[in-house]
Amino acid sequence: MKFFVDTAEIDQIKELNDLGMVDGVTTNPSLIAKSGRDILEVTKEICSIVSGPVSAEVVALEADDMLAEGRKLAKIADNIAVKVPLTWAGLKTCKTLTDDGIMVNVTLCFSANQALLAAKAGATFISPFIGRLDDLNMDGLELIEDIRTIYDNYGFETNILAASIRTANHMSDCAKIGADVCTAPPNVIKAMANHVLTDKGLAAFMADAEKAGIKIV
Ligand code: G3P
Repeated sequence: MKFFVDTAEIDQIKELNDLGMVDGVTTNPSLIAKSGRDILEVTKEICSIVSGPVSAEVVALEADDMLAEGRKLAKIADNIAVKVPLTWAGLKTCKTLTDDGIMVNVTLCFSANQALLAAKAGATFISPFIGRLDDLNMDGLELIEDIRTIYDNYGFETNILAASIRTANHMSDCAKIGADVCTAPPNVIKAMANHVLTDKGLAAFMADAEKAGIKIV
């Protein structure tokens, strides 16, 4: 499963990229706003750091405007995936950009029907939002399972990019289901390493090593 980092914070991307934990990056208008930077500038800098797909989202709502914004975003770098919302305008833009050879990430997906439409429109990635469904006591992971079943039934090549990831368990659960990608905030990726028994076991090893005077010199 590929790990994408869901942030526009350069330092956090660099830190995880240096650990080999970044196969791509996703941003959205809220993450760009949080960065306080110009979308074209920060996206260009991200593309200079990460060789995998970098998703940058349009802010227009009408198809013609979305297409113009998408083409402008795509010119930033070859690894840009233009992010469009799962609306008919977004699906129309997805079809046009995909036909032109540009990667498209269709976002704000909350149902299997929406994911089916994105695959028919030729999306490179579909972004089902797990956390926001869970927030409503709905089952975000069940949506990932449903999309995986539908895409496998018909050989759709659209990559399932599980998004709105809130916990380390979301990562492993998506891997068990067979999501192609998970995009997660840096802190969630880091939390995957945490386990109380690891900490306890390491402390015991260190105590015994000190007691025995073990030195590797
Ligand atoms: O960037 C898309 C998605 O990951 C947003 O997640 O936490 O705002 O629901 P969240």
